[in-house]
Amino acid sequence: MSVAKLHLNGRDIELPVTLGTEREVGLDIGALRSSTGAITLDPGYGNTGACTSAITFIDGERGILRYRGYPIEEIAEGASFVEVCFLLIYGRLPNRAELDEFDEKLTYHSLIHEDMKKFFEGFPPSAHPMAILSAMVASLSAYYKQSDEDLNIIRLLSKAKTIASFSYKKSVGQPFMYPRNDLSYTENLLHMLFAVPAEPYQVPKVLDRALNLLLILHADHEQNCSTSTVRMVGSSQANLFASISAGICALWGPLHGGANQRVIEMLETIRQDGSDYQKYVRMAKDKDSGFRLMGFGHRVYKNFDPRAKILKRAADEVLTELGVSDPLLDIAKNLEEVALSDPFFIERKLYPNVDFYSGILYRAMGIPTEMFTVMFALGRLPGWIAQWKEMTDEPGTRIARPRQIYTGAPERHFEPLAVREKTAELVLA
Ligand code: CMC
Repeated sequence: MSVAKLHLNGRDIELPVTLGTEREVGLDIGALRSSTGAITLDPGYGNTGACTSAITFIDGERGILRYRGYPIEEIAEGASFVEVCFLLIYGRLPNRAELDEFDEKLTYHSLIHEDMKKFFEGFPPSAHPMAILSAMVASLSAYYKQSDEDLNIIRLLSKAKTIASFSYKKSVGQPFMYPRNDLSYTENLLHMLFAVPAEPYQVPKVLDRALNLLLILHADHEQNCSTSTVRMVGSSQANLFASISAGICALWGPLHGGANQRVIEMLETIRQDGSDYQKYVRMAKDKDSGFRLMGFGHRVYKNFDPRAKILKRAADEVLTELGVSDPLLDIAKNLEEVALSDPFFIERKLYPNVDFYSGILYRAMGIPTEMFTVMFALGRLPGWIAQWKEMTDEPGTRIARPRQIYTGAPERHFEPLAVREKTAELVLA
């Protein structure tokens, strides 16, 4: 199969077919408008491929997710987040020397310019840390030349966790904790979040393992809303920091990465309302209520979200190891059970997604609710960077510029205000 035929206005047009590695089929409509005058219409892009990409493969029907060909289950079991960053960005697993060098660079670029610390003073303590993260990531472009692309990738990966931790410290009124070069990437993040200058802080192994897993599971997810935003902004040749900052803003929305915060807020509301989760299932089924079960459903996964499966097990293990008993976890499990056996959810293939369990885990780890989406952003950074790099390295990349079908008024002619007033007076008289 190499071409598809489209019959339009009495003509047959041939559309070349592009086949992916896993035999996904794409109809190349590059010549559609020039040969027919028509465009495709696909609001929400459910049927539109915006690029070819060699980074991440998802088969939503079979619950498959692979980074550079490696199944997420194997990566989650055996890799470190830093290894995953290397894999996604450079396309292959590093050898020992490469990993050590990469790790060392990440360690030595983690400080932010001292002047940037003053920015934090300008934000109110109630500022959402996603607002701070996006603003500060865009601001990095004021400090580092656009031409240092390779180094800027390292700087961004390394400094984002420092910015994220400082934004948390700002919100609780504690002094900023500087990174320590003797700690690993994930240990450093936990140290900057939870240590205080008044006493020594030993990073608990269980938290380090859980954080490593969470960051890995969020590391890439092909052309989702925030990644498409990064590519969209980057296609205008905006710099790396500006493009990623735009992705952070896109991630913030409650239908995307902001869902993890909303999951916990929803579970908390249910708990305060007497834990009557059935009532909320009923509300989710009632279209007029405007309520959705947060952490359920996915545009691509129609069977199960493999990341949610891994996280569900991890949440049980980590909570047991930490000795945390969380009433919200029980509500979450009940909600999941009811929703999965209810025809409304079965028919619509609505399964718990990654945000459903990540919220419970972050909460058990002592990470405040408003920081959840920031943690997602830190995990997604290597994916955004890899996608941005793949796009900018591709010689044929054009500026992203969708078309539209116009449904507004047909041509009409402008009348000056005085004439419009006169017409209005005549109508009223
Ligand atoms: N609760 C109740 N009903 C739902 C839900 C939900 N969470 N999600 C979808 N539906 C219903 C929806 O009303 C529609 O029903 P009908 O066909 O009768 O009109 C049907 O399922 C299809 O929904 P859709 O809105 O067309 O699906 P979509 O692919 O456009 O949206 C989604 C996907 C993830 C935005 C949506 O499922 C949702 O809003 N979920 C809750 C928010 C959430 O958890 N987001 C995190 C997504 S995973 C991580 C990430 O991407 O960042």
